[in-house]
Amino acid sequence: MQKQEEDYQRNVGNTISKLINLIILLLFIIALLIFLLCKYMPDYCPAPEKITKEKNTDPAKTEIKKETISFWKSPDTSTIPANDKELILYGKELISKTSSFFGTNGSIKKMATNGMNCQNCHLDAGTKIFGNNYSAVYSTYPKYRARSGTNENIYKRINDCFERSLNGVALDTNSKEMKAIVAYIHWLGKDVAKGKKPEGAGLKDISFLDRAADPKKGEAVYTQKCLSCHQKDGSGQLNNDQVTFLYPPLWGKNSYNDGAGLYRLSNFAKFVKYNMPLGAAHDAPQLTDEEAWDVAAYVNSQPRPKKDTSKDWPKTKEKPFDHPFGPYADGFSEAEHKYGPYQIIKDKIAQLNDVKK
Ligand code: HEC
Ligand code: HEC
Repeated sequence: MQKQEEDYQRNVGNTISKLINLIILLLFIIALLIFLLCKYMPDYCPAPEKITKEKNTDPAKTEIKKETISFWKSPDTSTIPANDKELILYGKELISKTSSFFGTNGSIKKMATNGMNCQNCHLDAGTKIFGNNYSAVYSTYPKYRARSGTNENIYKRINDCFERSLNGVALDTNSKEMKAIVAYIHWLGKDVAKGKKPEGAGLKDISFLDRAADPKKGEAVYTQKCLSCHQKDGSGQLNNDQVTFLYPPLWGKNSYNDGAGLYRLSNFAKFVKYNMPLGAAHDAPQLTDEEAWDVAAYVNSQPRPKKDTSKDWPKTKEKPFDHPFGPYADGFSEAEHKYGPYQIIKDKIAQLNDVKK
């Protein structure tokens, strides 16, 4: 009798432990499934991160909350009207493969640029959110620009990047190529209301450091996170054709000149923080703010082509806080302007121009 009772209990015990094992196995499988779902189909994932973000009341974090707001989206090329199609698609080609038209072996003009593509800095043919996209160009030009001190039209702005970022020669305003680029940029921004900048336009702001950006620290960042593609000497890497770049140069004779937008540390830091190393995005940055500023300081301390910028910012007090060439109206040195700390300079400039911060 007692033995039967014992057997019975043992059996029950065995069954229970089997059941427990089964439950543990099931829980494990469920956890694995959720993990795989989140990894490969993040849209279907019950993202706990999003919830904490929305609860956060810190102003720096509420910015992240905005990211659930709709960003600008580039129109679909399949919707281009037939009569404009050829010109607009040609414009897109010119942006994404500029080098094939104006580089070393360019089909329109050889050696008219440094061999870079517009797309190297205006990512995905100028459509990537905070990848220096063109969404707000057509809606905001012509506009006053302090760099020239004049009202600039879109042709002048495009040629600025040809002469500075591409360290090359300006296009004839009447050329088919200029018309195609303008047609493409117009088409991209066609749904943006005049005077408006959509969410995600251009570059995303990052906070200032309370110290000067440090080229030495930036060198360490460069070695660790950039060198594998852009190379030790910053010269990038050519494609097999030996004339176009797989990885564009960051300094040296084929890079942007010292009059280009990226030569200002703020533009460089904003660009790399949300776009580099390749694959980074505004909602998936890979660098800290410090790394972005320091690597900007390192790259922009290396040799590069020079441009005569003495006529830039004819109104001295409108010079931006990080333009590294004097004269200045604010009393800070060229080195302070180049590397910061910037807040104190920015405040002084605001005071000189009598604008509220
Ligand atoms: C080396 C990087 C780089 C390359 C290459 C480059 N650009 Fe730019 N471009 C910039 C930066 C940075 C800005 C923003 C500068 C600023 O605000 O001071 C800019 C701004 C512009 C703007 C104005 C954007 C706006 O919203 O106001 C236009 C238009 C433009 N570029 C066109 C071009 C074209 C066309 C090409 C190719 C011929 C080109 N860029 C190549 C870096 C580059
Ligand atoms: C995996 C390769 C890779 C890594 C790593 C990488 N980049 Fe890039 N980078 C690219 C490519 C490719 C482009 C051009 C993108 C395009 O044309 O679509 C680019 C473009 C750029 C540009 C604009 C074009 C130019 O040449 O001036 C800058 C600036 C830049 N990278 C800086 C950096 C910095 C700083 C780092 C390190 C934090 C970095 N990159 C890491 C591949 C890389």
